Amino acid sequence: MSVTDPALVAPASDGATSRPRVFSGMKPTDGVLHLGNYLGALRGWVAHQDERDSVFCVVDLHALTVPEAVDPSVLRSTTRAIAALYFACGLDPERNVVFVQSHLTEHAECTWILNCVTPLGWLHRMTQFKAQAEARESVGSGLLTYPVLQAADILLYDTEVVPVGEDQVQHVELTRDVAVRFNRLFGDTFVLPRAVIPKAAARVMALDDPTAKMSKSIAAERAGHAIGLLDSPAVLKKSIMSAVTDSGRETRFEQAGPGVRNLLTIYQVLSNEPMAAAEARFEGQGYGALKKGVLELVVETLAPIQARYTELMREPAELDAILARGAEQARAIAAPVLARVKAAVGVGA
Ligand code: AMP
Ligand code: TRP
Repeated sequence: MSVTDPALVAPASDGATSRPRVFSGMKPTDGVLHLGNYLGALRGWVAHQDERDSVFCVVDLHALTVPEAVDPSVLRSTTRAIAALYFACGLDPERNVVFVQSHLTEHAECTWILNCVTPLGWLHRMTQFKAQAEARESVGSGLLTYPVLQAADILLYDTEVVPVGEDQVQHVELTRDVAVRFNRLFGDTFVLPRAVIPKAAARVMALDDPTAKMSKSIAAERAGHAIGLLDSPAVLKKSIMSAVTDSGRETRFEQAGPGVRNLLTIYQVLSNEPMAAAEARFEGQGYGALKKGVLELVVETLAPIQARYTELMREPAELDAILARGAEQARAIAAPVLARVKAAVGVGA
């Protein structure tokens, strides 16, 4: 990812540079975050925090869509843990608004109104819904309307840019479509957002199956699937050194198989080296050397994050105070937008 994406710094009419409003979030389901979450999203949030007017959320209401899997006390502690990881990875609560979705009532309220303008067919077309629904016997309506809650998250902040991994692009496009439809029905109310994905590592693949994306829910069930941000060096060694590759020796990105391409991408992004340099470094050495190189970089990257995380989790009251302040700041933005939405449709006092 380029650290400064010029497209994100919009020139204002007075010639000064205005900072675009950014919104993104992560779900507190299935344990804490993995390297895909970090490289696909979080790392970019941190890299751009000075150029943007950013709002980041732990989207705990999104974690309720499969109620059979919800353990209330685990959900509460994972929500706090994800917020701590945001900060541990470098998000500064002084420079960004960081809060928990359910601490505001505005998201759920706006969702109802947006549900009423969202055609059912649009939701049935979402690939994440289709994949999740196929894997289940019974499907709650929350799983289907999940992207509408996501649309409310984004639209309540007059968001222009949504930095996410590739798997979320379809949801952001749906958000834009919902906003366009609402604006057409009720007059200009919403800013139209767009997704921004990193140039590299927008889709980090699983170590044990490089044809599938690294996923939190699979990581919770299968050791060796993901690189967890809180994994110990011993666990990291085990999972990275047993990553699936083919039996060749090819280290040129274009010619290599998917497992090697995934490892090269992780190496290249974490080292900030051009791909050609990463390819040359491991040329002719076999894949053991590549895995060892990735392992060293991952351990080195995660050590300070883990240390800071442990420190933050030792002071839960302090963490909760930061999140309470974040919720207040978030409400100051979202409440007037919701008032605008309610006025547009003719409800509210
Ligand atoms: P989730 O784990 O679904 O809450 O995703 C949180 C963020 O991480 C979203 O922006 C996703 O697009 C991103 N993300 C999740 N998995 C990956 C992956 N394997 N590679 C890249 N980005 C990912
Ligand atoms: N659906 C997103 C995911 O699974 C999480 C999310 C919820 C989100 N609301 C959002 C991401 C708003 C960006 C903006 O990763």
